[in-house]
Amino acid sequence: MTILLIGGTGKSATPLANLLLQANQPLLLTTRSGNVPAPFKGVRFDWLNPSTYTLPFELDANIDRVYLIAPPILVSFPPMKVFVDLAISRGVKRFVLLSAGMVEPGGPAMGKAHEYLSTLKVEYCALRPSWFFENFLFQYNERIKAKDEIVSATGDGLLGYVSTEDIADVAFKALVDDVVEHTNPIIVGPELLSYDKIAAMLTEVLRREIKHNRLTPAEFKQVCVDKGMPEDYAQMMTMLDGFIAQGAEEKNYRRADVVGKRTLRAFFEANKEAWRAVD
Ligand SMILES: NC(=O)c1ccc[n+]([C@@H]2O[C@H](COP(=O)([O-])OP(=O)(O)OC[C@H]3O[C@@H](n4cnc5c(N)ncnc54)[C@H](OP(=O)(O)O)[C@@H]3O)[C@@H](O)[C@H]2O)c1
Repeated sequence: MTILLIGGTGKSATPLANLLLQANQPLLLTTRSGNVPAPFKGVRFDWLNPSTYTLPFELDANIDRVYLIAPPILVSFPPMKVFVDLAISRGVKRFVLLSAGMVEPGGPAMGKAHEYLSTLKVEYCALRPSWFFENFLFQYNERIKAKDEIVSATGDGLLGYVSTEDIADVAFKALVDDVVEHTNPIIVGPELLSYDKIAAMLTEVLRREIKHNRLTPAEFKQVCVDKGMPEDYAQMMTMLDGFIAQGAEEKNYRRADVVGKRTLRAFFEANKEAWRAVD
């Protein structure tokens, strides 16, 4: 039986694919091109092109479990519903959805898919992680390198930053265990951190000053738009920073089901070359 990883080369699926490979689990990874690194097997899949939704099942008729990341658009549920219904008709029995700590079932974005899965006669798990360490490598890195700063509209708000390796440990069990133990786990890292603290940690590790630049919501939204984010998505990201500023992440942290082992400092140490200053 085969596990299909949607977004198979992304931040969360990469460590998960490695764990499944080590366990000799038959696997198929999707990307928009179908290209994936060796030794994995890839297939073309694009959320924004429904004609690609059947391709994984045409390549492998044994797919029975799916790791789902949402389409990169704000209103992500309509395409997810189409795909989930199709996957069930092709024999899929279990879905592991990557949702987010602050997103309740039935809430915005992945919350709708979470709620939908809970109404179906399938096994499912909706992972609800905090913010990924890997954002510092793929989203905040250019600014750190060029301007020695992290920007946010979170003020003194605290976050439970977590490694995607810790998330992958939970996802692995949710995909391979005989029974899904927890359908709604909130997953956090081992520390609650403000961006001031994170900037101080980066300063120590990189041995140059990295600042946390506290932006207003309007300024933060503009930074997101300038990076190429659609207006509505930038608005949502700004709203999330506002929730963090008001303590929503901290509240979530205190009711977490899984506390990861990897620390942000060790992650910074292991990847410090990635934030070498540019002239
Ligand atoms: N970052 C965080 O802190 C955080 C925290 C909690 C939850 N989340 C949630 O995590 C999800 C993102 O997961 P991730 O970070 O693992 O993904 P990611 O790193 O953004 O990876 C994207 C993956 O999806 C593929 N992809 C890109 N565009 C696609 C499209 N239109 N259709 C199908 N595949 C596409 C990419 O490959 P190609 O580009 O080669 O196609 C890649 O394999 C989001 O729903 C986000 O809300 C993120």
